[in-house]
Amino acid sequence: MFEQLEALLKEASAALAAVSDGEALRAWELAWIGKKGRVTEAVRGVSALPKEERAAYGKRANEIKVALESAYAEAETQVRERELTASLAQGEIDITLPGRPLTQGGLHPSTQTLRDFYRIWATMGFQVYHSRDVEDDDTNFTLLNIPPHHPAREMQDTFYTTKPNVILRTHTSPGQIRAMRQLGENGTRPIRVILPGMCYRFEQITARSEVQFHQMEGICVGRNIHMTDLKGTVAEFARMMFGANAKVRFRSSYFPFTEPSMEIDVECFLCGGEGCRICKYSGWLEIAGSGMIHPTVLENGGYDPNEWSGFAFGMGPERITMLKHAISDIRYFWANDLRFLSQF
Ligand code: PHE
Repeated sequence: MFEQLEALLKEASAALAAVSDGEALRAWELAWIGKKGRVTEAVRGVSALPKEERAAYGKRANEIKVALESAYAEAETQVRERELTASLAQGEIDITLPGRPLTQGGLHPSTQTLRDFYRIWATMGFQVYHSRDVEDDDTNFTLLNIPPHHPAREMQDTFYTTKPNVILRTHTSPGQIRAMRQLGENGTRPIRVILPGMCYRFEQITARSEVQFHQMEGICVGRNIHMTDLKGTVAEFARMMFGANAKVRFRSSYFPFTEPSMEIDVECFLCGGEGCRICKYSGWLEIAGSGMIHPTVLENGGYDPNEWSGFAFGMGPERITMLKHAISDIRYFWANDLRFLSQF
């Protein structure tokens, strides 16, 4: 009996010494010291012995089990340490590898120009008013003094919807009516707002025209607003936008909703007025349409034109961005080509 016990100890110890990983260790535990392990069975075997042999056998069997359990615990610690070292080595960070550059987003060039506008006009007390992209025919045209069949409607090819009289705005000018009505409190309060937004025209897409583009309208209504206010304000804008030496000139023009109407030019900032490809050798760049708000339009906005007056202007951020960066084709703006966009 005792020889069998000693042989069991030897065999179990040898098997444990051969264990090299966690899996083998758990198998060893099951085979030898687990509930049905051979050593456990041997300990249990004491009850089958004659009474006088039990005490000595039981003592030795227990000693063996305890010894093997502590050997097991030690082996377990070693295996765990070995496995940890191996996994650390595997997940090691190779600090000599070249890094992967992070791609960084940026603001769209139109957004950047619009934000320049907001910043500059804010210094002159203009607040931002967001009008709507989907307009009704009345507000886009009729209330702006462009009655049905007026030839000026031809200037702007319109996107119509399937709903009668619901269109996509062709310019930001209908926002003039909405701002006057909403902020003017029935023609009793002066207003000073800029109205940025997307406009839509059903046009052939070319390097110079897109079916969608931004405009930024500005309007100022008060009791003593004159053309000098328009000129001074726009001249100040040009200095802040294009540099302290920027010069502007006003050319007479026609818009149904302003009277008188003017185009605003800024001296070409690329050639300093000498004449170059961008300004088509004229020395001037057109940056906005403008004028004194037509009395009919003031009335449609809720103001009495005998007491109130105002000026309005509309400029195109894409056009100004193109001039600033000598961009030759407006189609780049909505093509979503990162090679273009990431330059700004
Ligand atoms: N709405 C005009 C356009 O789209 C621009 C404009 C705005 C002209 C305000 C005068 C006053 O061309």
